[in-house]
Amino acid sequence: MKNNPKFIGLSDSRLFHMRGVAYKSYNLAREVFNMEEDVARSLFLMGLTHDFAYAFVENQTDHEHEGGRILKLSGFNWAEAVFDHGDPDVDDWTDELLILNLADMTTSPDGKPITIDQRLEDIENRYGTDSIQATKARKLTKRIKEELAKRNLTIPNL
Ligand SMILES: [Fe+2]
Ligand SMILES: [Fe+2]
Repeated sequence: MKNNPKFIGLSDSRLFHMRGVAYKSYNLAREVFNMEEDVARSLFLMGLTHDFAYAFVENQTDHEHEGGRILKLSGFNWAEAVFDHGDPDVDDWTDELLILNLADMTTSPDGKPITIDQRLEDIENRYGTDSIQATKARKLTKRIKEELAKRNLTIPNL
């Protein structure tokens, strides 16, 4: 992957999705996690970039690690959250990872704010209820709710 010269690119809808995740990440950081304005703006950038590596990977499931790798090389301190996003089995969830997974799971593939259940339904419709993708997304949703509960956080209209 590292030396893959192939450039795949990003669709318009993917770009809108990334913008939607940026807005959500910023809002969650400010309103739910009470983070400082500068930190929240940095997490806006985390959301904005989180799926950029789709542009470079032939296998879609490589986008998180490739993205995290490049963002780490670029010096972003939340690069690990990008590396780990979408994986329900990561051991320790940082606040940044929780923000990113939550923002990602409440933003439609074309960037609109949606509930977690709508997002799950969309994944089930696209890939099938028993697909690897849907199973992983359900597991991720469960973990997101556990991580929120652990921090005593509640999100209105989740
Ligand atoms: Fe992603
Ligand atoms: Fe995403």
